[in-house]
Amino acid sequence: MPRIIRVRDNLYATAFTLMKLLPARYIIDKAEATGVVTPGTPIIETSSGTFGLGLAMVCRLRGYPLTIVGDRAIDHDLRKRLEMLGAKVEIVEDEGGPGGIQGARLARVEELRRAAPESFVPQQYSNPDNPAAYRVVGELIAQALGTVDCLVGPVGSGGSTCGIASSLRLSSPGLHLIGVDTPGSVIFKAPEGPRVLRGLGNSLVPGNVTHSAYDEVHWTTPGEVFHATHELFSRHGLFMGPTSGASFQVASWWAQHNPDRTVVMMLPDEGYRYLSTVYNDTWLREQGITPAPASSGPRLLERPHQVGETWSRLLWGRRSYDEVSGRPSHEEADV
Ligand SMILES: Cc1ncc(COP(=O)(O)O)c(C=O)c1O
Repeated sequence: MPRIIRVRDNLYATAFTLMKLLPARYIIDKAEATGVVTPGTPIIETSSGTFGLGLAMVCRLRGYPLTIVGDRAIDHDLRKRLEMLGAKVEIVEDEGGPGGIQGARLARVEELRRAAPESFVPQQYSNPDNPAAYRVVGELIAQALGTVDCLVGPVGSGGSTCGIASSLRLSSPGLHLIGVDTPGSVIFKAPEGPRVLRGLGNSLVPGNVTHSAYDEVHWTTPGEVFHATHELFSRHGLFMGPTSGASFQVASWWAQHNPDRTVVMMLPDEGYRYLSTVYNDTWLREQGITPAPASSGPRLLERPHQVGETWSRLLWGRRSYDEVSGRPSHEEADV
C-alpha cells in the first residue's frame, strides 16, 4: 500500500514503492480463488516494466513458472532482477505490424499461450481485476483525506487511475480525474509516434482505459518530466521514477491554479531503477534531453490531433472514446 504525504498546502502524494505489485497480486489471488490457476500453472505476460516485476515477485513466492515478453525498453538491471526472481524474459522487436511494439508483444504472448493451453495470461491491459485491485487505495485515500477534489495519475493500462477514481467517487462524487499521457501515445487519440517516456502512454488503446472516467488529459514531454522528477526529489525528498515526475508536473500546476481544492497525485514507483537514466547526466546528454521546467503552462487543445512536442491539455469531459473526435476539423467537413 502507498504512503500518503502532504507535499504542499493542497497537494498530496500517494507514493508507492512498486504500484504494480498490487494488481499483480490481486489478479493471481483471483485466478487462484476461481481455480484458473492451480499449483504449477505457467504464467505468461507482456510487460517492459513494473507489472512484470510485481508478477515475478508473486510467482516466485507461489512457485509459478513465469515468462515475461518485453521489448528493448526492459533495461539491463530490470531484466536481471526479473531473472533473479526466476522469470524467463523474451525480447521482441517492432516489425512494423499493427499496434507497433505493443502489437508485436501481444502476438508473441498469444503464440506462447497456444503452445501451452494450460497457462494463464493475466492481461493487465484488459483484465477487470487490474482496476479492481485499486479499490483499497481509493478507500485508503478517502479515509486519510476525506473529500478529494482532483486525482492526477499517469495512464498506461488505465488500471490505477480508473480503479482509484471509481472507488474515490463513492465518497467524492465530484472528483476531477486527470490522466497524464505523452505525445506519440494513442490512448487518447493523439497521433501515433515514437515515445521517449515509458511507463505511461501506449501504442494500442487498452481495454482497461475507461475513457468516460477522465475529465482532463495532459500530454507531457521528456525535458519537463525529467525536470519535475528531479524537483520531486530535491524539493520534497521523494526519490521516484519519471511517471511520478509527470504526475507531479501536472498536479502541481493544477493545484496552484485551484488553491481551494484538494489534489492527490499518484507516484507509481521509486527512483532506483532510473539511476543510470533519468538521474544520470551522461545518459540525458546522449539522449539530447535537457531537463528544464516548462516555460509556460500547458497549451489548451480543442482536439487530440493537435498534440505536438510541447506540454498540452484537453478538457476530455468524461466523454467516451468515440465521442471525442481525433481528426482535424477540415477532414470532418469533407465527410
Ligand atoms: C512506472 C509506471 N507508472 C505508471 C504506470 C501506469 O499505470 P497504469 O498501467 O495503471 O495506467 C505504469 C504502467 O505500467 C508504470 O509501470
